[in-house]
Amino acid sequence: SAAQKGAYPYYMLKEIDEQPGVMRTLVQEYFNEDGSIKIDADLLNALSQADRLYVVAAGTSYHAGLVGKELFEKLAKIPTEVHVASEFAYNPPLLSEKPFFIFLTQSGETADSRQVLTQVNAQGYPSLTITNVKASTLDREATYTLLLHAGPEIAVASTKAYTAQIAVLAILVKAYGEAKGLQAVKEFDLAAELTKVANGMQELVDEKGTVEKVAKEMLETTRNAFYLGRGIDYAVAQEAALKLKEVSYIQTEGFASGELKHGTIALIEEGTPVIAVITNPKTATHTRSNTQEVLARGANVMIISSRGVAQEGDQVVLPDVNPLLSPLLSIVPTQLLAYYASLQRGYDVDKPRNLAKSVTVE
Ligand code: G6P
Repeated sequence: SAAQKGAYPYYMLKEIDEQPGVMRTLVQEYFNEDGSIKIDADLLNALSQADRLYVVAAGTSYHAGLVGKELFEKLAKIPTEVHVASEFAYNPPLLSEKPFFIFLTQSGETADSRQVLTQVNAQGYPSLTITNVKASTLDREATYTLLLHAGPEIAVASTKAYTAQIAVLAILVKAYGEAKGLQAVKEFDLAAELTKVANGMQELVDEKGTVEKVAKEMLETTRNAFYLGRGIDYAVAQEAALKLKEVSYIQTEGFASGELKHGTIALIEEGTPVIAVITNPKTATHTRSNTQEVLARGANVMIISSRGVAQEGDQVVLPDVNPLLSPLLSIVPTQLLAYYASLQRGYDVDKPRNLAKSVTVE
């Protein structure tokens, strides 16, 4: 079955490798032959009545939500807020007049997220759960559901559910933007882009050696590490940092590249690993100058860049995709870095200490 490890030493590696296949499955599940999208008209109707979206999630799913906000705002022009479920539950933001709630949850069982959904239902607001688990609590209790079709995710550290969440959010944005009559969205050939993403992911997972080597050189003995990025790359930096700390126990933070100099650069010393994600031509030079600043202080720098902004010496150059979908590719080498760092340090990468796959207490 899909939940067997087969020839893989760990589920995490298997699940990283499954991502190209998940992208292809999502294209099949959500697109008709004629390119139209299989999303319930009622859901699109409810969405179109909203004046603001509230994405609520925890952990990795929260980080997928940060990318979702970029997609909703940049492509479909609807204001979108992303909230950590445990904060929202007890300190809710001031809501707009017509809010619509999107719960992102791999398991569909996270207590913090459910707590918010219960409140949302009590107030009579419409909601959508995007989950990997059919008939899970958050599936049953929300007004609408979209499934991730990622297959069972066994490793505690989430990988394929993150990329599936971003892809499903992109599909939802496309359907919503089309229903709204947005020309740019109509012209955005998402099915073709997701197929490109699948091919790009395949190239990245086929080149594990490079990342394994960087992990060995930079992460085998370090105490801390930093990820940098701007815009959508900052969203990726936060997820990449969570992944690395979860499985390698290296204290890792994801920073908005420009913010590093406002304090955290004090932590950079000889040999500190700094990994920068650079995909946006508008900010590439700024982030490059941030990496120069840490290099000058002795940091070991790794750069993950997209082809358009790549420079000689960048450790990973990503295959070309639409810039808004770049997180689907840029996250892959960071997942592999986390995996190899954990192995090299001698840990059980599938079952990191103190963590549970789904947290059903608040
Ligand atoms: C736990 C897991 C994380 C996950 C988070 C949210 O903390 O260890 O990997 O991201 O819960 O889970 P969910 O199922 O709601 O996406």
